[in-house]
Amino acid sequence: MMREKIEKAAEFLKRESSKTPKTGLILGSGLGVLADEIESPVKIEYSRIPDFPISTVEGHAGQLVFGTLSGKEVVAMQGRFHYYEGYSFEQVTFPVRVMKALGVETIIVTNAAGGVNESFQPGDLMIITDHINNMGGNPLIGPNDSELGVRFPDMSEAYSRKLQKIAKETAESIQLSIREGVYVGNTGPVYETPAEVRMTRILGGDAVGMSTVPEVIVARHSGMQVLGISCISNMAAGILDQPLTHDEVIETTERVRADFLRYIKEIVKSI
Ligand code: HPA
Repeated sequence: MMREKIEKAAEFLKRESSKTPKTGLILGSGLGVLADEIESPVKIEYSRIPDFPISTVEGHAGQLVFGTLSGKEVVAMQGRFHYYEGYSFEQVTFPVRVMKALGVETIIVTNAAGGVNESFQPGDLMIITDHINNMGGNPLIGPNDSELGVRFPDMSEAYSRKLQKIAKETAESIQLSIREGVYVGNTGPVYETPAEVRMTRILGGDAVGMSTVPEVIVARHSGMQVLGISCISNMAAGILDQPLTHDEVIETTERVRADFLRYIKEIVKSI
């Protein structure tokens, strides 16, 4: 049973780390370096955690890091699981369930995303105001365990307005220019076609990516508050006259790494 698996993993982690963070971080492609900034780290490889899947994609280390960031206790996922890797939505979101079982109340999700809004530029950081689930599935399909959350969760504030406000004020306070917008989650692993990018824009999307949506659904189901930050690593297909590559995604995230680190650290300080 799922709840037993969650509790088993959480018990293992409590024994290993003896920490009780209230803030969880999920670090996206090229953004895992934030976990290297965590002080007095206790690092636990996913492969050691009961029932945890193992990450396969390049640019992801695959471990949980417990420790202190900006004076706050945190737990970070350095490397996340993607649906396109072949994991079920249940596996993709298992770590979020485990974080909740550890006592995490607030989750900061980060990702690299393609810019759909034509006023965006590669290297921009975007506060996610809302999302569109275009992944053709939902991690909550199946019997509902009411100990974990309600059958029909409200998603009218998937991304906490309060945390968005803090993120906006934090950006101002460190003079970082920040975008805001709607994240559209696709399955990948293909990048979108130009027609799909045009469709996404018409539907109200500002950025596209291949993650985040399942984790946020499960975080909300379990009553956690969510802040989402996208790093616009490239303009989505068809906007510029050039093909998309994973190398570009990694290059851009590396270029804005310093700003990204500074920003998330300031946010953690304020929440
Ligand atoms: N599309 C989907 N996912 C992405 C992109 C993109 O353009 N860039 C980074 N992740």
